Amino acid sequence: MKEYVIETDNLTKRYKNFVSVNNLSIHIKRGSIYGFLGPNGAGKSTTMKMLLGMSKPTAGEFLIDGKRIPEERIAILKEIGSFIESPSYYPNLTGRENLEIIRKILGLKKSDVDEALEIVGLTEFGDRLVKKYSLGMKQRLGLAGALIGKPPILILDEPTNGLDPAGIHEIRNLIKRLPQMFNCTIMISSHMLSEVELLADDIGILNHGNLLFEGSLDYLRLEAGKRGYGDQNLEEMFLSMIDEDNAFRKQRAII
Ligand SMILES: Nc1ncnc2c1ncn2[C@@H]1O[C@H](COP(=O)(O)OP(=O)(O)OP(=O)(O)O)[C@@H](O)[C@H]1O
Ligand SMILES: [Mg+2]
Repeated sequence: MKEYVIETDNLTKRYKNFVSVNNLSIHIKRGSIYGFLGPNGAGKSTTMKMLLGMSKPTAGEFLIDGKRIPEERIAILKEIGSFIESPSYYPNLTGRENLEIIRKILGLKKSDVDEALEIVGLTEFGDRLVKKYSLGMKQRLGLAGALIGKPPILILDEPTNGLDPAGIHEIRNLIKRLPQMFNCTIMISSHMLSEVELLADDIGILNHGNLLFEGSLDYLRLEAGKRGYGDQNLEEMFLSMIDEDNAFRKQRAII
């Protein structure tokens, strides 16, 4: 079995003359939680969309569980649960009915719907119409749609967006438990760095489509110390790293 569940090799996405993701090579270990970080517009969602076959890479390639998209696209997509930006749902159906649609497409068991509702704490609201859901409920439903059937890989793009502090805390605890609960590997993007710090085994930091750092939090602390950044917390190290890269880019007139 390969050590890395997701591995990209110089993955690149260009829109006309704008480079959104630039020669990205990331490595996500089996059973780990990988925090994918970067400021707005860094290229996180674009990368995740390429991994899910929703956007075609301009150059480079990637392997998911040792398999290559597009040749084995269907087989791979069945293994990945995803939550990309704000997922859309049928507002005139209930949460349960929306999950039922996903369940049928994936060919899962009837009980998987109840289980997914239970895991995200939506059991009580399963029979309410989605148009009557609060933002937090919709986010939870999105998460339920990602983890229904317990896929071995989860790609979650800002899953705690719009949740209240208690909800953020709860979802963080939930996500943290998932690798043990069903042996999955999780790639998660988030701007809530204090949450990621408590959650991630490894992190990747992206700025203007370029990978500035990849490794464990301990390794990041070591790097931060060497470069003379504050190493109190992830947010501080992240901001120093991004500032330094932006200053370098400005000096070189890259942007
Ligand atoms: N279809 C498109 N056409 C042109 N440019 C695009 C397209 N999609 C994304 N981009 C650009 O690619 C860059 C990366 O966008 P992306 O959505 O991946 O960023 P992100 O890291 O997910 O940011 P955020 O934190 O705001 O979600 C941005 O500059 C964006 O404007
Ligand atoms: Mg995004």
